[in-house]
Amino acid sequence: MTATTLPTPADLSITPRDRRFGRESATPRLWHGGSVEATAIYNALSTTFPVGEAFFVESVRAFREGAPPKLAEEIKAFTTQEAIHSREHDAFNKRAAGSGYDLSKLEAQVEKRLAITRSRPPIVSLAATMALEHFTAILAHQLLANPRHLAAGDQETADLWRWHAAEEIEHKGVAYDTWLHATRHWPRGKRWKVKAKVMLYVTRNFVVDRTAGALELMRQDGVTGFNAWARLLWYLWVRPGMFRKIAGAWLKFFLPGFHPWNEDDRHLLRAYEASAGAVPQPGRKVRRSA
Ligand SMILES: [Fe+2]
Ligand SMILES: [Fe+2]
Repeated sequence: MTATTLPTPADLSITPRDRRFGRESATPRLWHGGSVEATAIYNALSTTFPVGEAFFVESVRAFREGAPPKLAEEIKAFTTQEAIHSREHDAFNKRAAGSGYDLSKLEAQVEKRLAITRSRPPIVSLAATMALEHFTAILAHQLLANPRHLAAGDQETADLWRWHAAEEIEHKGVAYDTWLHATRHWPRGKRWKVKAKVMLYVTRNFVVDRTAGALELMRQDGVTGFNAWARLLWYLWVRPGMFRKIAGAWLKFFLPGFHPWNEDDRHLLRAYEASAGAVPQPGRKVRRSA
């Protein structure tokens, strides 16, 4: 089994788009086409972003010393993008709370997972970030490649998710390249073993926690028991089947020579930029997370 390692494209520029969503108009409680399960899984995901993405930034920045100049620049842009994502998902989560959802259980679960990872050496946090950034990038790819996922969503909220997806694709190589740099003196076998182990661990937690989080939000909408499980599993694994559709891309992570940019999906970025409402605003000052 062989695969060619293609590094991050030399002409890739990571451009923070400082956009704000949902400030002018109200977000309906069941913003995803009135669907309890669709709203629940996206809301469960969004709950993880403010603290989760701050954790990604902290994990990557811990290894920026001695990074080659191009990677150092990319880490800076990645930091800015993730800080704005945290801000926008925090605002979105407040709107969800304002419409009556109690997110506290979901937030406590994210904090619990992060505390466990933070108790390990910093390289474990970087490995977890690198694995989760691949996860995010393949979700983002699917979200933009297949308009069906957000077609029924409230316009402004669907725009928030598309914007986030585009930037996740754009910076998908940063945590990975930082990992390659940080472990450059490791033997190949050790690198692969740690990488694979961490990916299996974070995937298990991601699937279990997001499923539990979505079921909790569905319970708050009065959908429980077998009915809730059946509707959620159908949505995630069958139609539109996001988890099923990313399975192949997830597996590629384990191939020798894997790199996130082996799959050059910048056509999705170009399509996003060309779509209405995508206004890149480079150069605006944004407060970075510490
Ligand atoms: Fe993000
Ligand atoms: Fe990211």
